[in-house]
Amino acid sequence: MKVLGIETSCDETGLAIYDDQINNGKGGVLAQVLYSQVQLHQMYGGVVPELASRDHIRKLVPLFDELLVQAGIDKSQIDAVSYTKGPGLIGALMTGALFGRTLAFGLGVPALGVHHMEGHLLAPLLAADNPPQFPFVCLLVSGGHTMLVRADGVGEYQLLGESIDDAVGECFDKVAKMLNLPYPGGPNVEKLAKTGNPLAYQLPRPMLHKGLDFSFSGMKTAVHNLIKDTPNADSDPVVRADIAASFQYAVVDTLTQKCHKALKQTGLKQLVIAGGVSANRTLQKTLEQRVQDIGAKVYYAPVELCTDNGAMIAYAGFCRLKQGQADGLAVACVPRWNI
Ligand code: KG4
Ligand code: ZN
Repeated sequence: MKVLGIETSCDETGLAIYDDQINNGKGGVLAQVLYSQVQLHQMYGGVVPELASRDHIRKLVPLFDELLVQAGIDKSQIDAVSYTKGPGLIGALMTGALFGRTLAFGLGVPALGVHHMEGHLLAPLLAADNPPQFPFVCLLVSGGHTMLVRADGVGEYQLLGESIDDAVGECFDKVAKMLNLPYPGGPNVEKLAKTGNPLAYQLPRPMLHKGLDFSFSGMKTAVHNLIKDTPNADSDPVVRADIAASFQYAVVDTLTQKCHKALKQTGLKQLVIAGGVSANRTLQKTLEQRVQDIGAKVYYAPVELCTDNGAMIAYAGFCRLKQGQADGLAVACVPRWNI
């Protein structure tokens, strides 16, 4: 079975084909293409929704043609289409959903709208060797979400905790702006933090002792005040690197402590991290060290599957279709949607 996945919830146009017959029947990604709109939005310092929608429309057909060439197949060999139905920017979601639904209708194959965060959650399962097995705890960290989820199977998710305000990715992006780093902020803060001292400045760890929920809005204010009160914070490269490293350390420390707590609370020994922020090497390494004491293992996808991509949507669609699910002809995108 070959499932086409289409991701257009924000500023990446991602298409991929998941094929359950390749890799000696283990299944895997047959082909994938990705177009990032980073250049388009960079001058605005963030994603402009209307521009994002228009650019998805411009790129969907050429990317689809490129995908077929890469996969070495004709479009008649596609068995089903899966697209991101939400959450995300409504205009951007509609472009991929309408393209996918229409294509499926033309090909006479089923179509299914999937949850973007479920795509992230399932992406680490695409690993060829030793993927995580259900049940596991998943830390979902992206530009719009920060959640701790217990996953017992496809579609069997229990929310253990979430951010009561900003998402951790958003916090990285805002701190990047304060440090005059280009959009998208996360990877640039990580790069700057590499040369800094993570213990140079003490930043808060909000809600550390309050269950498994998070709060990151206070962190943005704390970094803002730190920059305002520190001489040469906008010009001295050492000071800037120290601020980036201290911020990253505080966030990683908070996430790590909550993950540790979630593992202890559930008694599970597998921790999956997914979503754009899971590409952060300091987060990956710190988690690996800190969960050793309870004999837990950390799983994450390669960087290109941590951030938005079509492969995770193709795979989430495949898993759902295998359960017998499919949508009708109506297309209804859901900009706000709980997992
Ligand atoms: O999952 P994603 O690609 O899109 C959403 O679903 O939002 O996540 C994007 C977020 C952005 O906030 C970006 O700054 C952050 O993930 N991000 C990172 C890193 N790479 C991406 N944050 C910290 N470190 C990184 N290496
Ligand atoms: Zn995402």
